[in-house]
Amino acid sequence: MKHPSLDLIPASEITPQAVFEARRDWLRLMASGAAGVAMAGWAGREALAQSPGKLAKLPGARSTVPGAMTLDKLTTYQDASTYNNFYEFGTDKADPARNAGTLRSRPWTVTVEGEVGKPGTFDLDSLLKLSPMEERIYRLRCVEGWSMVIPWVGYSLAELIKKVEPTSKAKFVEFTSLADKTQMPGVRSGVLDWPYVEGLRIDEAMHPLTLLSFGMYGEVLPNQNGAPLRLVVPWKYGFKSAKSIVKIRFVEKQPVSSWTKAAQQEYGFYSNVNPQVDHPRWSQATERRIGEGGLFAKKRPTLMFNGYEAQVGQLYAGMDLKKNF
Ligand code: MTE
Repeated sequence: MKHPSLDLIPASEITPQAVFEARRDWLRLMASGAAGVAMAGWAGREALAQSPGKLAKLPGARSTVPGAMTLDKLTTYQDASTYNNFYEFGTDKADPARNAGTLRSRPWTVTVEGEVGKPGTFDLDSLLKLSPMEERIYRLRCVEGWSMVIPWVGYSLAELIKKVEPTSKAKFVEFTSLADKTQMPGVRSGVLDWPYVEGLRIDEAMHPLTLLSFGMYGEVLPNQNGAPLRLVVPWKYGFKSAKSIVKIRFVEKQPVSSWTKAAQQEYGFYSNVNPQVDHPRWSQATERRIGEGGLFAKKRPTLMFNGYEAQVGQLYAGMDLKKNF
């Protein structure tokens, strides 16, 4: 990915107060009646991962979706929440953890529009209650050559899609992230064409592995990981997993993502993890698991569809994956 220099607010100007308030917002949410109702359903169920105890709890029942649980060792919460890509908060891996305290993750609404029978605006409480929360341990493989294993909490995006009743013209789904200069210092830079936009084909969006995530490690998402809700599409490069989503639009034509706009020859629409298709500037054959011995650790071979081929390979039957990269 490109890393032009950014004109960001120095971390020292982001007050601890802002961080504190962002966290307090979440605690309020979880203390609110609506979230309380959802919580009751989870009582007694234990999150599979050790809750780091930093944010409000958000446990989920162990998922039964095939492929939803990897056997790999989990990445530590510390690594997963301090080594991030979230360009709205800067391009350095440490920037999101440093700067995302200014993100106000509540109140929050998601607008659903386009080719659906039931368009509308959902607030966070109604989304939290829409379907039971599940814990899913997914690998996330970044296009840059590193990967993590994270216990996400959420439910299949398909649950929301079914509620809004897509029409026969809904061939693709476009996801838009928040782009607010007052909360997101990186949006003042021209590093990407804001807002951050990503897209999936409707069958990819409906696949049970495609997770609408509200939490990780048994707690609500930290801001730097895309609070209050994001996608996790585990068989695709990480950039397909849009963070801090405010709009979901069902469309007939293939959406143009921010990364495709930035460099069409480097970031294709599908972006399925594929060790046989190199990025124009580097190989995708191997990856470095974050937390495993730093830069000198032995690299792992990257797996076709990030190891989810049995679950999703069929979606691409007959397609030339070199052409449709
Ligand atoms: N979503 C938004 N809105 N902005 C971003 O910069 N970065 C993407 C993706 N979603 C990004 C985003 C990339 S490149 C990756 S690898 C993952 O988020 C990183 O998710 P993580 O920080 O939770 O590991």
